This record gives sequence, C-alpha cells and structure tokens, in this order.
Amino acid sequence: MKVLVIGSGGREHALVWKIAQSPLVKRVYCAPGNAGISELAEIVPIAADDITGLADFSEREKIDLTVVGPEAPLALGIVDLFRSKNMKIFGPGKSASRLESSKVFAKNIMKKYGVPTADFRVFLDKDKTLDFVRKAQRPLVIKADGLCAGKGVFVCATLEEQENAIIAIMQEGVFGAAGRTVLIEERLEGEEASIIVVSDGEHVLALASSQDYKRIFDFDRGPNTGGMGAYSPAPLVTQEMFAGIERKIIIPMIQGMKQEGAPFCGVLYAGVMIDAEGPKVLEFNVRLGDPETQAILPRLKSDIVEMMLKALDKGLSKATVEWDERACVCVVVAAGGYPGAYEKGKEIVGLPELKDREDVVVFHAGTKKLKTQNSKFITVTNGGRVLGVTALGDSIQAAIGTVYSALEKINFEAMYYRKDIGKRALPRVVPS
Ligand code: AMP
Ligand code: GLY
Repeated sequence: MKVLVIGSGGREHALVWKIAQSPLVKRVYCAPGNAGISELAEIVPIAADDITGLADFSEREKIDLTVVGPEAPLALGIVDLFRSKNMKIFGPGKSASRLESSKVFAKNIMKKYGVPTADFRVFLDKDKTLDFVRKAQRPLVIKADGLCAGKGVFVCATLEEQENAIIAIMQEGVFGAAGRTVLIEERLEGEEASIIVVSDGEHVLALASSQDYKRIFDFDRGPNTGGMGAYSPAPLVTQEMFAGIERKIIIPMIQGMKQEGAPFCGVLYAGVMIDAEGPKVLEFNVRLGDPETQAILPRLKSDIVEMMLKALDKGLSKATVEWDERACVCVVVAAGGYPGAYEKGKEIVGLPELKDREDVVVFHAGTKKLKTQNSKFITVTNGGRVLGVTALGDSIQAAIGTVYSALEKINFEAMYYRKDIGKRALPRVVPS
C-alpha cells in the first residue's frame, strides 16, 4: 500500500514512524512533513490545508490510504472531498468534525445525549455577555466557538480577566469569525486526562490513556502552549474509570452522532476533567492529540494501518489492540521564547547519538534539513515546538530517567524543556 500522512508536527512523525512499520505498507508519503519525517517518508510539499492540492496529488500518485493528522483539513472537509473521488481516507467528515470546529455544536450534542460536561451559556452579543459575567461573579471559562489553534479558551479567575477575554474576542475580533459566537462555562476543578478512541461510526476501540502538559513552565505555571509533554498510561485513569468514560461519554457521543446523521469515523479525543463527582468533558477533538500520540504510539503493538482499515470497513466490533506494558514519556523540546516570539534556524546537535535506541525515539516537530556551504546536510529548528524526545521504561519513573538522560545528548541555542514531565503520575504508582 501507499499511505499519505497529512501534517508536519510530532504527532505526524509518530504516525509516519508507526505506519512505516506495518507489513501492509510499501511506501509512505507526508505532506508537508519535517526533517525527521523525511528520513522515513517521501516529502510532498503541499500544505496541510490545501485540500484540493492534496486530493490531486493522491489521485495522481494512486495513494491507497490517506491519514489526516491536524484538525484544519478535517474542518475544511478533506474527507468528504476524497470520498467524492472514491479515495480512501481515515478521519471524520466535515459535519462530524464540528465536534471540534464548533464548541457550541459539541456542547449541544453533549446536552442532548446526556454526556457529563460543565454547565454553559451561548452568547452572540458582547454587552449581554459582559452583563452575564458581571452578575455571575464566579470563576468562569470564556471560549470562542470556532477553531483558534488552541488559543481560544480563557480560564478566568477574576471578573477583570473575564471582561478582557470577552472584549478581545467579541470587540477586537482577535479570532475573527471563530469568535463570533462565545461560550461561557462553569470552571471545573480537578485533574485532566486524554481519552482517545478509534471509531468506525458505531463501535469503538480505545487507545491507551494519557495526560499532557499544557503550560510552558514546570509545576503548570505560565501561559498555555500546544503541549510540552505527555505520558501514557495515566495511572489516574483506572480500568474502572476508563470503562465508565466509555459508557457515559464515548458511546453516547458515537451513538448520538449516528442519530444526528453525522456518523463519526476516525479518532475521537475526549479531554476530561476528573473530580470527586467523576469525569466531565472539557473538549472533544476529532483527531489524535499532540503530544499524546508521541507517548501512545510507541506502546502500540498492533498494526495501526490494519486498525484504520477496519474502522473504514465498519469492522471494529471484533477488533482488539495490544499494548506494550511499559510506560512512555515524551518531553517536548521548544525554542526559547515559545509560546511567544522565538528564533528559527538553530542547528540541532546530538540527534545521531540517539538513533538506533530501542527505548528512545526522537520525534521531530518544527525542524528542517539545511544544506551547508560544504554540501553537508544539517538539521535546524523551524518552529516553536522542535522535538519530542520519547522514552519507554519498565515504570513511569524509569521512563522519566531515560528520557531526561537522553535529553542531555541534544542541544541547540536557547533550547528549552520542562523538567517535570511525568512526575505528576508518580504519587499514584510509587507508594509514599
Ligand atoms: P479546550 O480547548 O476547550 O479543551 O480548553 C483548553 C483547556 O482549558 C483545557 O484543557 C482545560 O485546561 C481548560 N478548560 C477548558 N474548559 C474548562 C472548564 N470548563 N473548566 C476548567 N478548565 C477548563
Ligand atoms: N494535546 C492537546 C491537543 O492535541 O489538542
């Protein structure tokens, strides 16, 4: 088979890495990819959101299966476009993708099908929104309805923060049309986990649990980022809790979407907040998480391509999945300054030392290859999140030890990473 992966981040490197291991696959392509991906796949210089360009390429190259990494092409309807041309593509169609591209749509589905989530109100008018928060006088979360590259959520403690968020979204229009409608939610407290499943529209196959780290600094301080690290499994999510999440959240959503005439085939990601009352949904994504994928796929023993083909053939009811018992920890290495302004083009050294390790994989995100004056190729930084250094270990503690000693081998100017990835899980696995 010829498989095309769409995207250019760490998640897509992990997908390409895993897909290339499938005995069903002869050749992998990636559009637009990165330096790490170029060692495993043929790079196709087409942007992830150029869906007609991607469809033309796939038709011309007779691609057998396309796998979509990020949300933008899904929201643009890439799956509907490929299907209209009888090409196989793994991911939800445009209407099912609204679970991520419209937070109001997702909330209304959750409400209709009794899925636990924070109470909410929807607003279109700035003055009415301001009026509501001024009267409410409690911690609230202000969210722009549409896709904002992970920046459209404001978790506010004070009225001033709430007012500022509303003015930024509804008056200054910082998110454009994505902020035309605003959602106000009760602020939930607790610990977050990522529950990711593959669905064929009717049945689901759950992937291993994971947790990610959204803040830039240790101990969850500083602004939100695309994700600074992840680990899997998440000991917080016991088997019993996982079963409850499937029963009360995942299955009602899959059945609900079918009933709505928008069956969900692809990867459904539920971000949940777990408190004393149990898990409640914070958000749905219609794709794999980044960096959760980098911590999940190294533990997946089963063939991912077979799993995707089964989902496309509505055959997940009898499918099983096998996991490596080991724990996996991924630490994201960022360019200094991220998530604010940062520089690109810094040479990354030390990568060859970590090649050929069974227990360490370096997934690339913002990297590219550069030809030097003496015709040598070097790898340089090309984004805010640069690498996802990932290690397996017999325990989460062992994986943490391995990942941080691997990180010592890598260097580039102003490189930054968190020092506490995975440590949150330790009190649950190591008796104190
Ligand atoms: P979302 O994109 O909706 O998941 O929001 C991004 C992040 O904001 C989540 O991962 C949570 O950390 C936080 N968040 C979202 N909704 C809530 C809520 N209702 N209560 C507390 N935190 C929230
Ligand atoms: N790690 C969160 C996300 O992928 O949206």
